[in-house]
Amino acid sequence: ESEEFLSLFQARVDREEKIEPNDPMPEGYRRTLVRQIGQHAHSEIVGMLPEGNWITRAPTLRRKIALLAKVQDEGGHGLYLYSAAETLGVSREQMTEELLSGKAKYSSIFNYPTLTWADIGAIGWLVDGAAIMNQIPLCRCSYGPYARAMIRVCKEESFHQRQGYEIMMALARGSDEQKEMAQDALNRWWWPSLMMFGPHDGESAHGEQSMAWKIKRFSNDELRQKFITATVPQAEFIGLTVPDPDLKFNAETGLYEHGEIDWVEFKAVVSGNGRMNRDRIRDRKQAHDDGAWVREAALAHAAKRAASRTV
Ligand code: ACO
Repeated sequence: ESEEFLSLFQARVDREEKIEPNDPMPEGYRRTLVRQIGQHAHSEIVGMLPEGNWITRAPTLRRKIALLAKVQDEGGHGLYLYSAAETLGVSREQMTEELLSGKAKYSSIFNYPTLTWADIGAIGWLVDGAAIMNQIPLCRCSYGPYARAMIRVCKEESFHQRQGYEIMMALARGSDEQKEMAQDALNRWWWPSLMMFGPHDGESAHGEQSMAWKIKRFSNDELRQKFITATVPQAEFIGLTVPDPDLKFNAETGLYEHGEIDWVEFKAVVSGNGRMNRDRIRDRKQAHDDGAWVREAALAHAAKRAASRTV
């Protein structure tokens, strides 16, 4: 790739022109997008598992309906994202293969167990809250198909965040036992939610280049700070305590400063050694195998229709 090609491409990005599938693009740009969109799609799909686990145990019919809808939305997000990645020349089969073989990454957050109903509240509030903070700027990503997919995804994520916060609010206003359950879920999900934003900027391998290409609009640390600053008052409002004794509000910057993140834990989870990594891949494989007949039937149906059209 010549210097001239790279600088012409950069100039398009700098003019805020959207890059579309058939446009010429540097190989590194394409690779970065395939990696990020693929990991993002896998996260949506694997993210259905910890919550799907609670559908049969939701405490009321109303809660069950909301949770079912949310989990189905996550499946839909995975599909938009796989389609967006396919516009870059990678196939859905190949991406699925990489996920099931354990080769592809997906968000660290989905490797933690959902132990109580309050975890469903904490996931909606914190995990979907963190996802929105990260994904709103992706609506302005330089790659058109990814940016457009993110618009609907973010609208749905915002409903997910509210349903989670509402569960936490109901528990926090409930009996002492229910309040304790909510606090325990916040204690367990707080730090893993902060890890969703990725390593500190100094350690972020792709951050700088992705910001220059306007794939990412903010750095990992900037988004983490914004998330903390939005979420701490929400915890206070419902009478829960964020489990970080070093949390401090900096009046000058208007942001919260947080205590040290356990990067050893983060690395262990990302490299496959979190509490639930093996279970998640096993369950995903099982779901894939159980769905084989649907894929076969759909292909047979499509072949039959194609044959009847040609005669
Ligand atoms: N979990 C797993 N892996 C992670 C995480 C995480 N929380 N954070 C960073 N990583 C990985 C990166 O994928 C990268 O690995 P790779 O080089 O093998 O691909 C490595 O750690 C280094 O990190 P960065 O250089 O900072 O990576 P990047 O610039 O891609 O930033 C981020 C990471 C912020 C997650 C970015 O990819 C992104 O915004 N992705 C889209 C959003 C997304 O995937 N959300 C998923 C969870 S939300 C949901 O599904 C509800």
